[in-house]
Amino acid sequence: MLVRNFVFWLAKKRRVTDWIARQGMQRGFARRFVAGESLEEALGACAELCTQGRNISLNHLGENVTTEAAAREVCDGYMHAVDEVHAKQLRGNISIKLTQLGLDMDKEMCRRMAREIAARAAGLGRTIEMDMEGSGYTDVTLDIFESVQREFGNCCLAVQAYLYRTEKDLQRLAALKPKIRLVKGAYREPKNIAYQTKPEVDGNYKKLTTQLLEGATRGEFFPAFATHDPAMAAHAQAEAARLGLAKGRYEFQMLYGIRRDLQEQVYAAGDLLQVYVPFGADWCPYFMRRLSERPANWWFVLRSLLAESGAKRQAA
Ligand code: FDA
Repeated sequence: MLVRNFVFWLAKKRRVTDWIARQGMQRGFARRFVAGESLEEALGACAELCTQGRNISLNHLGENVTTEAAAREVCDGYMHAVDEVHAKQLRGNISIKLTQLGLDMDKEMCRRMAREIAARAAGLGRTIEMDMEGSGYTDVTLDIFESVQREFGNCCLAVQAYLYRTEKDLQRLAALKPKIRLVKGAYREPKNIAYQTKPEVDGNYKKLTTQLLEGATRGEFFPAFATHDPAMAAHAQAEAARLGLAKGRYEFQMLYGIRRDLQEQVYAAGDLLQVYVPFGADWCPYFMRRLSERPANWWFVLRSLLAESGAKRQAA
C-alpha cells in the first residue's frame, strides 16, 4: 500500500512523469507494457498475438482531454482503429475511456461520440469495450454505457471489485445482457466507497465472479475476468466448471506484457484469452499505474536504466 501511495503521489509530479516519458520509449522499458506510440506498431503487436490464438482489445492511451477538438480527434482515431482491426481481420475490438471523449467538458458530446464509435463497430459486426475510470465517473459511465448498449448491443463495460456498489450495479446491468469485464480496480478510492486491503478486494472479486457466472447460465452476461492473479483465475475456472458453463461462454483478459506465463497457462487450458493492447504517445499515466501495482516493476525499470548506463560507460 505504501509503494502504491508513493507511486500515485509521484505520478502527479509533472517533472518526474515528463522525465519518465522522455526515457521510457527511448530506452525501451515502456515497450514491455505499451505496444508502441503509433497505431501501426500496435496493429503489428495485435497481429502477432492473434497468430498465437489470443484475441485483442486495442486501447489508444490517454485520459481527461480538455478541448472538443482533442475529443473529436480521439473519436476519429478510434473509428479508424475499428476500421483497421476489421480490415486486418484481427480477432478483437477496441477499448475506450470516456474521459478521452470529453466527459469532463460535456456529457452529451461524450455520449454522442461513444455512440458514433459503437455504431461504426456495429456496422462491421464488431464490438467495443468501455474502461471504468475513477469513482467520480462511475454513475455517468454506467449511464452512457446503458444508452449505447441499449441501442447497439455490442458493448462491454469494465466494473471494479474494490467498489462496494458493484454487486448492485451488476443486478441493474443484467437486463441489457452485456459483456462485463471484471477488474479489481486501478485507482485510489476512499474507504467509505471501496475495499482497501487485498484480501477484501479478492474476496469481493470472487463473489462477483460467481454472480457473473451464475448470470451467464441465465444468459444475462458474457463474463470476462480481467486479472493476473492466479487465485482469481483458478476460482473463475472452478466456478465455471461447477456451473457447467462451457469454455467459450466466458473469457480471461490480461494486459499486454504482464504475466505472460499465466496468459499461456489459461490459453493452454482451453480458455478464451483477450489481451488489452495499449498504444499511443500519452502512455505515462497508464505506465505509472502498472508500476504502482507491483514493486518488482520498479526493479525492471531501474535494471533497464542501469544496464543502459553501464553499456554507455563501457562504450565510452
Ligand atoms: P493483483 O494486483 O492482486 O496482482 C496479482 C498478481 O498479478 C501479482 O502478484 C503479480 O504477479 C501480477 N500482476 C498484477 N499487476 C501486475 C503488473 N502491473 N505487473 C506485473 N505483474 C502484475 N482497472 C480499472 O480500474 N478500470 C479498467 O477499465 C481496467 N481495465 C483492465 C483491463 C484488463 C484487461 C486488465 C487485466 C486490467 C484492467 N484494469 C482496469 C486494472 C485492474 O483494475 C488492476 O489494477 C490490475 O489488473 C491488477 O490487478 P490484478 O487483478 O492483476 O491482481
